[in-house]
Amino acid sequence: MLDKAIPYWQANRSPHLEGLKTFLRIPSISALPQYRNDVARAGAFVADHLRWLGLNDVAVVTGNEGEHPLVTGQWLGAPGKPTVLLYAHYDVQPVDPLEKWESQPFEPTERNGKLFARGSADDKGQLWILLKALEGFLKTGEGKLPVNVKLLFEGEEEYTGAHVERFVDGKPAYLNGVTSALVLDTGMFAPGLPTICTGLRGIITAEVTVRGANRDLHSGEFGGAAPNPLQALSEIIAALKTPSGRVRIPGFYSSVLKPSKLEKESWSKLFFDENTYRQELGASGLIGDSRYSVLHRLWALPTLEINGIAGGFAGEGFKTVIPSTAVAKISLRLVPDMDPDEIAQAFKKRVLSVSPPHVQTEVKILAASPAMVIDTADPTIKAAADAYKDTFGVQTAYVREGGSIPIAGSFKSVQGVPVLITGFTLPDCNMHAPNENLDLDNFYKGIEAIGRYLNILGQ
Ligand code: BES
Ligand code: MN
Ligand code: MN
Repeated sequence: MLDKAIPYWQANRSPHLEGLKTFLRIPSISALPQYRNDVARAGAFVADHLRWLGLNDVAVVTGNEGEHPLVTGQWLGAPGKPTVLLYAHYDVQPVDPLEKWESQPFEPTERNGKLFARGSADDKGQLWILLKALEGFLKTGEGKLPVNVKLLFEGEEEYTGAHVERFVDGKPAYLNGVTSALVLDTGMFAPGLPTICTGLRGIITAEVTVRGANRDLHSGEFGGAAPNPLQALSEIIAALKTPSGRVRIPGFYSSVLKPSKLEKESWSKLFFDENTYRQELGASGLIGDSRYSVLHRLWALPTLEINGIAGGFAGEGFKTVIPSTAVAKISLRLVPDMDPDEIAQAFKKRVLSVSPPHVQTEVKILAASPAMVIDTADPTIKAAADAYKDTFGVQTAYVREGGSIPIAGSFKSVQGVPVLITGFTLPDCNMHAPNENLDLDNFYKGIEAIGRYLNILGQ
């Protein structure tokens, strides 16, 4: 089969890229309500494409009010062969700040061998890689795949992930018979270096609201007597971490598992220079516990980050105001074996205990999911490394990632199948940021690599 698929992928680079561009033009921003229709449109676009590919039982699965659809479809024409669950997400992050984009986020533009657009890397480009890999088999030869596949594409990964989580946790008949999962939503450690992700951090997202007076106040008239929620919020935030970056929540580090000696050794062999990393970030220094390497801090230690603060006036000019409320969006990243619910409660308790008595503070936990690590000895992981060797000509790197893909953990814990977490984006792909991009060489190699992977699984 591969002998027909490889020349097909070669010959169809241009239509494959054009198809991706059409997909990327749909602004499927899941977090913003005004894009609800566009998310639905992107889901329908994917479903149409699955039908065109010849997949069976293609469905757009709608969820509860406010949720975005899942797209499913399967091909079970290889009896006795493995059944691979393929996951990616078709929603994207918001685009702000728009003025920092060199070309419009939803007008895919090629520059220097890269395709710039929101979602090109995270994750519509990678979803497209999966479909084009399947296409190479389905549109050539006898139109068969080397393995059975079940597709599960999500439209709210960047927002809540609630729909897909409920779907998977409910053990639907659709997922019966799955033998392994492939999550295509991470990247390569360096250009030219195929990479398998062996662990992801978990995440807790929370909103802290601080209330002072019952209305906004003139800061001259009331300043010095009235409570200022922004000040109080700053004091709360300052009490959550030491200046060097150690999180000050009782019990926060007590169940942190050390990475194995083998894992640490393999990390130390990765070509990674901490000073180059700092320079590339354009920062004058790094934070965190200096007893640990930067990679160890990013991959195997938990953290707490302030993602945004709102309140008062920060626009152009000036306004002498004491706002009545202030809000912070805070996320915590977890590692094995931290318990998300326990940590969420400990976080809440800590915030309330350091909150000054003259304000009212409320902590809302939005979501909590655990970290995961995979078993690298699984044959499906070996198969991926072999496929990558055949495609990229080099050995695969095994890394963890600091980011989170909560559903990958559910595939492992609920479905009980091995999970391959991988992807073809580069460190400078700017995911979640302006000028997000996908390296085109990796796009084409990714298609071939996934095709080869499925082919090896089928042998
Ligand atoms: N694709 C990312 C996850 C990711 C990013 C993994 C970088 C490894 C390296 C995913 O789309 C994402 O952004 N996840 C969110 C999850 C959150 C919104 C629940 C994250 O990690 O912040
Ligand atoms: Mn993603
Ligand atoms: Mn993302």
